[in-house]
Amino acid sequence: MSKNFETGWAITEDWGFLSTAGVIRLSEAILRRKIEWQEIIVACKEQSQVGYAHIDYLWSYVPFIATIWVGESERNQGVGRTILAFLEKDACMRGGEVIYSSSQCGEVEPQAWYRRVGFEECGILSGHNEGVGEILFRKRIN
Ligand SMILES: CC(C)(COP(=O)(O)OP(=O)(O)OC[C@H]1O[C@@H](n2cnc3c(N)ncnc32)[C@H](O)[C@@H]1OP(=O)(O)O)[C@@H](O)C(=O)NCCC(=O)NCCS
Repeated sequence: MSKNFETGWAITEDWGFLSTAGVIRLSEAILRRKIEWQEIIVACKEQSQVGYAHIDYLWSYVPFIATIWVGESERNQGVGRTILAFLEKDACMRGGEVIYSSSQCGEVEPQAWYRRVGFEECGILSGHNEGVGEILFRKRIN
């Protein structure tokens, strides 16, 4: 298992990676605002970006992982877990107790990953995703 990667808040130099990687395409204005507000975490391996997470804040203060993505060839090496650990540490320092995330109903792989890294199901957003629904996950942190 490789561990030679670094994780931190996205910087403007990550713009190219963030605008093309993963599955979610945010507008340039939102992406730039999220970088400026430290709402995107990027993981790098040998100075190349290999994964990211977009963070939103429920009620303006509870972290919600809107997206987490790791490049296919870099998966299962602990990158996702390290991105999560970075967010947990930041949330703890702000006095947070929980982190939320979600996954489309029926997407079993990401759901298994969330459970593996300590999240538990805490509800369903019915009707989202053209009626399929979205499972909400919560992880208690300390
Ligand atoms: C989900 C995702 C971010 C995980 O990233 P990753 O870097 O491969 O995850 P890690 O290597 O940190 O995995 C942490 C642990 O979960 C396990 N794991 C990895 N993928 C898993 C899966 N699909 N189901 C169950 N466990 C999984 C790993 O074996 C590891 O176990 P351990 O550390 O306890 O031995 C990555 O698979 C991905 O980008 N998927 C596509 C996008 C996606 O579905 N994102 C989530 C919804 S937004």
